Amino acid sequence: MSGIKTLGQFIIEKQSDFPYAKGELSRLLRDIGIAAKIVNREVNKAGLVDILGDAGTVNIQGEGQQKLDVFANTQFISALTSGGECCIVATEEEDEFVPIDSPVSKNAKYIVCIDPLDGSSNIDVNVAVGTIFSIYRRKSVDGVATLQDVLQKGTQQVAAGYVIYGSSTMMVYTTGKGVNGFTLDPSIGEFCLSHPNMKIPENGTIYSINEGNYVHFPEGVKKYIKYAQVEDKLTSRPYTSRYIGSMVGDIHRNLIKGGIYIYPTTSSSPNGKLRLLYECNPMAFIVEQAGGVASDGFNRILDIEPTELHQRTSIFIGSPAMVKVAEDLMVEFS
Ligand code: AHG
Ligand code: MN
Ligand code: MN
Ligand code: MN
Repeated sequence: MSGIKTLGQFIIEKQSDFPYAKGELSRLLRDIGIAAKIVNREVNKAGLVDILGDAGTVNIQGEGQQKLDVFANTQFISALTSGGECCIVATEEEDEFVPIDSPVSKNAKYIVCIDPLDGSSNIDVNVAVGTIFSIYRRKSVDGVATLQDVLQKGTQQVAAGYVIYGSSTMMVYTTGKGVNGFTLDPSIGEFCLSHPNMKIPENGTIYSINEGNYVHFPEGVKKYIKYAQVEDKLTSRPYTSRYIGSMVGDIHRNLIKGGIYIYPTTSSSPNGKLRLLYECNPMAFIVEQAGGVASDGFNRILDIEPTELHQRTSIFIGSPAMVKVAEDLMVEFS
């Protein structure tokens, strides 16, 4: 296969970056890649198989679970269980963390926090959805891993990534040494390196926010939206507004083209809507590794000390120059 580098080949090649790792993290990343291909197969057949619509259940977030939410959740837990490298899965779709209790996992040293299907509202309307994952090393040295092994700051992540099931299916991930993107080639069933060493532009002209919530935004966010809409040739304003309702889709676009994604506090989400452990921390790790920034408007996302499994935070993430303007307005008008 001339010039093609598969995810598996890349992971093995990069293993030398981790002298202490004996291949467990590599296997874990491959396990996630396998589950992503299974989810991708269902996403691509959605409409032809009974995978659309809601599952008739409500998750701890108070959201009606879509059938694909439940299917993806099951697939990732199953792949992580059989892979044997993970001792706990913390997922959006389960109330509590899921201890992986299988013979092969008894010495597993990794924790996986996952949003199995991000952008559920887009499933039935054929707009890009995703999966977001975050990997930690367990802190406890013996006995059964506990919640304290899960509630680690974002700076403790050993890896983070997302899958975007869009016009093509891509996996983008980091292990703390840059960001690389792999596109699924369905003809060989492999994720192939397509976006080596991804870097977010320092500045941009795209802002992503659900402006429908404008009246409920903090003053600093309202001021930023007005700033984005002012005519100013020198700073290429007015900016373009792009918001698709999938965090993965909005951030992936901004990662490539430059931009800022904001999900601030609102009256219905006084702590923000997006979840720290399996949405904001992994996306913040990836964007920082690509040269971007991520904060809650005031403090770095990766420095937030988690206290609850499904805790939420507001997030301002993307091109450094754009996030700085928004943060300055948040400080000025707070
Ligand atoms: P999920 O589908 O995993 O629950 O996440 C949905 C999130 C995120 O993907 C998206 O950007 C945001 O919710 C959209 O929220 P609004 O519909 O409130 O704008
Ligand atoms: Mn959800
Ligand atoms: Mn999500
Ligand atoms: Mn989700």
